Parts: sequence; structure tokens; C-alpha cells
Amino acid sequence: MSKPNRPDRRTFAIISHPDAGKTTLTEKLLYFGGAIHLAGEVKARGQNRRARSDWMKIEQQRGISVTSSVMTFERDGITFNLLDTPGHEDFSEDTYRTLTAVDSAVMVIDAAKGIEPQTRKLFEVCRLRSVPIITFVNKVDREGRPPFELLDEVADALALDVCPMSWPVGMGGQFEGIYDLAKDRLHRPAADATGAYEGDAASVAGLGDSQLEDMLSAEGLALLREEAELAQVGYAPFDETAYLNGDLTPVYFGSALKDFGVEQLIDALADFAPSPRPQPGDPRDVDPSEPQVAGFVFKVQANMNPQHRDRVAFMRLCSGKFRRGMKLNQVGTGKAIAVHSPILFFAQNRELAEEAFPGDIIGIPNHGTLRVGDTLLESAETIRFTGIPNFAPEILRRVKLNDPTKTKQLRTALNDMAEEGVMQVFVPQIGSQMVVGVVGQLQLDVLISRLQAEYKVDAMFEPSPWDTARWIASDDPKAITEFEGLHRSAMAADRDGAPVFMAKDAWELNYIAGRFPNIRFSATKERH
Ligand code: G4P
Repeated sequence: MSKPNRPDRRTFAIISHPDAGKTTLTEKLLYFGGAIHLAGEVKARGQNRRARSDWMKIEQQRGISVTSSVMTFERDGITFNLLDTPGHEDFSEDTYRTLTAVDSAVMVIDAAKGIEPQTRKLFEVCRLRSVPIITFVNKVDREGRPPFELLDEVADALALDVCPMSWPVGMGGQFEGIYDLAKDRLHRPAADATGAYEGDAASVAGLGDSQLEDMLSAEGLALLREEAELAQVGYAPFDETAYLNGDLTPVYFGSALKDFGVEQLIDALADFAPSPRPQPGDPRDVDPSEPQVAGFVFKVQANMNPQHRDRVAFMRLCSGKFRRGMKLNQVGTGKAIAVHSPILFFAQNRELAEEAFPGDIIGIPNHGTLRVGDTLLESAETIRFTGIPNFAPEILRRVKLNDPTKTKQLRTALNDMAEEGVMQVFVPQIGSQMVVGVVGQLQLDVLISRLQAEYKVDAMFEPSPWDTARWIASDDPKAITEFEGLHRSAMAADRDGAPVFMAKDAWELNYIAGRFPNIRFSATKERH
């Protein structure tokens, strides 16, 4: 008899700045997890890759992956679900929301660069939800910054306690291996020309063990002893509770390219990363051990297949055992959705899912019924998962139709895409031009190309007088009415009709917010 709910799941994402090595690390995690047999399959280069993603021209032009996906692998009886987050600096709300569906994250840092802007942005989203983070300092096979400098930067820039779990013996040309501080093991590169990790490590009795003298150069060993001892007294000891609360990050050093430290990272995920946790909901939280299926949609991807106008809603399962063919209730609409052809994601292949457990991600093909933020329940109860927010856009543009007879199609297209959660659409109280809001410039290009390709709408974006937007709310309804009356030309409604104030710039926003202390100006909005 299998247990109704298996806790042996690790659902996580990798956060990093472009080029830090996320794709390479993903590849190696899948490789060591046995999900792929040849490293190199995730980022098939050249023709192959183009053929596979030709539905999205932007991907070809920019050579980046606009969409997120889910990859699953197993090791030592644990199922790992890796949710991909696009790392390009122009990223969408999707990226943020993907982080609402994970229980933990791996933060990849380039040893030569340290904390970069995108790492910091994604980290902030993790912090909002107290997502525990394991840090992987990548590319130690190249000249990097001194480990102490990197650790201090993580601690200072992100206000996190750091705990080095391993220590590199030199970097770049001086690199001799990695010492596992927790397990007292030395991992060394193979002697052959590839420099790849040889597959096993030597256990020693501690940094003082004389065996190390035969394994490392005299300089390397002296440096390791000095640095590692300093590190052990200088940083917080590993504290699992602090890690789980998102207050401390264990730090591993490695090289994704040379397979160094990757298995240690998988072990760390297995040993420390949380299995599915209770998911916050209204009016109650949902525990993964509950027998009935509950989940929420954190992402909707349209047109994965250009031949069919299908959409796939990505649902994170929070409780119960899901079986193919199940009927789930869409909270709020009263609709029952029969999930006949759910998709589980294995590396790049889609496979039909027969069953799934809390922490798993299921793709549900549909024709636009499912929206980001939707809660799906097996029971007839009314619970809504919370904490799947819309984010305030950082770029606002007016939409101009080149063919004015297409107003209706434009409205449909914008509403569809807003429902997918790839951008937001605002209807100003004054004027007829709709305004779209995005968090990155690239999304605008994607929108224009999708309007043309999928909806045959020829449109362009014009600058708008606004730079930023905030949802407004107050405990006093009169205050909102009064505020709207005073700022009508800057007021709009989002697609749910909620009032939004659009500001020219951050300065104006701060100034006005300061003058209306009884109004909350919010950068995120949760669906109710
Ligand atoms: P990303 O997804 O975070 O953007 O990074 P990606 O894995 O694509 O890696 C960015 C570049 O860094 C790639 O080189 C990759 O080979 C290299 N890289 C990744 N991990 C390591 C590592 O541990 N050590 C070293 N030395 N390099 C690493 P590229 O030349 O830009 O691309 P490619 O032609 O090799 O794909």
C-alpha cells in the first residue's frame, strides 16, 4: 500500500542573474538525477533548439527562453520538481509567480560577479514569502572573487546569515578541489584532461588530517586550513530552523560546468530543503496531508502548440492524491473541471500524468477557463489560496490600433493575455485608450508579436504619461471616492474593476501617498 500523500517531494526554483550558470546547473541536476542521459539536452544549441521553440519568434531573435517550464527528476527515492524561471533581465510577472509555487530556492551566483541585480530582485520575492534559499557559488573553476568577499556580500546585500557548507581549495588555475565542511570530505578533479569530477570523494578526519597532505599541494592545503578555520568561526553555524525561516542560507561552492559540487547540492536539497508545506488560504490553510485534492494555478501558458489555440494552466498540487480524470471545482465560478489529460513534465518531454502528489505540478490543457490565481478543489468547500499576487507594473503604455475596426478583437486579446497573467490591462476613467502594464520591456515585444500572430490585430504602443501604478484601498470607502474625484485623470480600473492610481514617477507617487495617509498604495494585489 502506498501512502496517500508522500512527503518525499522537493519543489524548488533556481534564481540567478543571466549567465550565472542556471541552465548549465539545471542540465547537471537533471543529469545527476537521471532525468537526462546526455548533459546538453536542456539547452540544445543551434538548429535543434530553434526548431523546438519556433512558436515563439522572440525566443529566436533574442536567444532567450521567454517561457518557464517544469522539470522533474528522482534521486534516492525523492522526487525533485524544478520550476524554471526565465533569467533574462526583462522578465514577466510569471517569473515572480512561479516563486509562489515553490517550497524552496537555489540561488546561483557567479563567483567572479557576486550578487547581481536580477538575483537581488528574485531574492526579494523569495523573502516576501520566507522561501528558504540554498546558495550555490558557481564557476570556481575560473578566477573568482575571494570566498570571504562573496560570503560577506551575500550577507550584507541580502541581509541574510550565511553559513559556508563547503570551501573551495583555490579557484581558476589554482583550483584543487572542494572541501565539504559538514562531512569532512575532499572532492578533487579527475587527473585526466577533462578536469571533470571523478565521482568519489575522500573522507578525512578533519582539516588537520595528515592524509590531506598527499591530496593537495602544500600551498593549497595551507590556504584551505587557514581559510576554512576562519570561515568556521567567522560565520553562523548551520541552523536548520533559521534556514527554513529564510533567515540563513547555507552556501556551497562548485562548478556546474565541471560537475563540481552538483551532487552535494542535490544532497543538500534532499537533507534540508522542505517538503511541501501547508499552503496559506482563506478562510483556512491547507495541509499537504489532507486527503482531498487542492491546488492553485500559478501560470497559464497559451499556444504551446501553434496548431491549436490551447492553453496549459500550471497547477501546484497542495494536498491529496491527484488521479487522471478527476473532477475539480473551480472556486468562485462553481464550474467543475474534468482533468482528462493532465501533463506532468519530465525534462523537455510532456507525458500524461496518471497520478500526482502534493508538491507536484500538473499542466491542465484548457480553452481559457482557468486563470492565474484560481483555486481548484476536489471538495465542495470554498477555500482560496492566497499569496499569488499581481505585481505593480513598471512600464505603462497606451495601446494604439493601426486598424480601428479591430477594437473588439483588441479587447479580447488584451483580456485573454491579462488572464494568462503575462501583463495587466487598465481602463482609464477618462479617455478610451486602454493601457497595458508590464514589468519588463521584452514583454511589450512579445505582446505586439502575439497580437499579430494569434489575434491578427495590428497595434502599437505609445508612451503614456505614467510610469508606475498602485492599487489603492482604504478602510474608509469615502476616502477612495474623494481620492478618485481629485485624481480622475490618473485613475483606472484593472480587469477586475479594482481602482488603480497611475503616477508619473516614483517621486509623485511618494508625494501623493504622503498626502493621503488613510489610503494604502499597494504594489501587489491578490485576487479575491
Ligand atoms: P544562465 O542560464 O544562467 O544564463 O547561464 P548558462 O548556464 O547559460 O551559462 C552561461 C555561461 O557560463 C555559459 O558559457 C556556460 O558554459 C558558462 N558556465 C556555466 N557554468 C560554468 C562553470 O561552472 N564554469 C565555467 N567556467 N563556466 C560556466 P557561454 O560561453 O556563454 O555559453 P556556451 O556557448 O558555453 O553555452
